Amino acid sequence: MSERIPRIKTGIEGLDILTGGGFPAGRTYLVAGGAGTGKTIMSLQYVYGGVRYGDSSVYVTIDESPDHILEDAHSIGWDLEKLIDENKLLMVEITPLFSDAMKIDADKILDELKGLISQVNARRLVIDPIAPLILRGMEMMDLMAAQMVVRNYIRRLIMGLDGFNVTTLATSEIPTGTNKLSRYGVEEFLASGVVVLGLRRMNGNFVRELYIRKMRGVNHSLNICNFVIQYGKGIVIPI
Ligand SMILES: Nc1ncnc2c1ncn2[C@@H]1O[C@H](COP(=O)(O)OP(=O)(O)OP(=O)(O)O)[C@@H](O)[C@H]1O
Ligand SMILES: [Mg+2]
Repeated sequence: MSERIPRIKTGIEGLDILTGGGFPAGRTYLVAGGAGTGKTIMSLQYVYGGVRYGDSSVYVTIDESPDHILEDAHSIGWDLEKLIDENKLLMVEITPLFSDAMKIDADKILDELKGLISQVNARRLVIDPIAPLILRGMEMMDLMAAQMVVRNYIRRLIMGLDGFNVTTLATSEIPTGTNKLSRYGVEEFLASGVVVLGLRRMNGNFVRELYIRKMRGVNHSLNICNFVIQYGKGIVIPI
């Protein structure tokens, strides 16, 4: 990739410094981290910050209601309802499309996303999270088969998204207690970039940290940066 590819500012100042000006536009990026590490807040900041650059967004949730996400945004001081009213943001829950784990249809989801994107002329897309937590209580064999289906879905989804004219952030949960980068093991290879969020134990407390694990075509920093979540600002990386 050459430096001719335009960059999209994430709205997270420190992150834009670490990448030397933002993410290469038009591709799909993974925000990976364990539970409560700030994946949703980073995604909300990407959308909220996009307005400053004249970008509208689609925010798709799975396994969590848009109302809860709007409340999370309020707790930071961001009024997303206003953006929805102004037609700059669409928030949609697509969990019903995953009601049967064995029949997840990437093409159907891509079609749905395409329609949503054109409704608000979105340049930014968030998928939070990229895949559902697959059904619990299944037989071991079924679980493995379901994981195959989900892997396949992720592969087709990311490839399909790259054909749309949007820059996508997709969140991916890293199961607690593993040193994996993603839940299904394919997300990090398929995405054009990966930002990893985490909590590190320090002097008996936890501190938040993030690093850029990969970003194709970008001479990015590999620093592990501490960050905080602040009212009115969201993620702040002191650099
Ligand atoms: N208004 C706020 N001010 C400061 N910190 C906050 C605020 N709201 C949430 N947090 C912190 O951020 C964490 C949650 O961040 P977020 O919801 O983005 O995590 P997540 O990675 O999306 O989690 P999950 O895996 O459950 O979806 C909370 O656990 C809390 O520690
Ligand atoms: Mg979340």
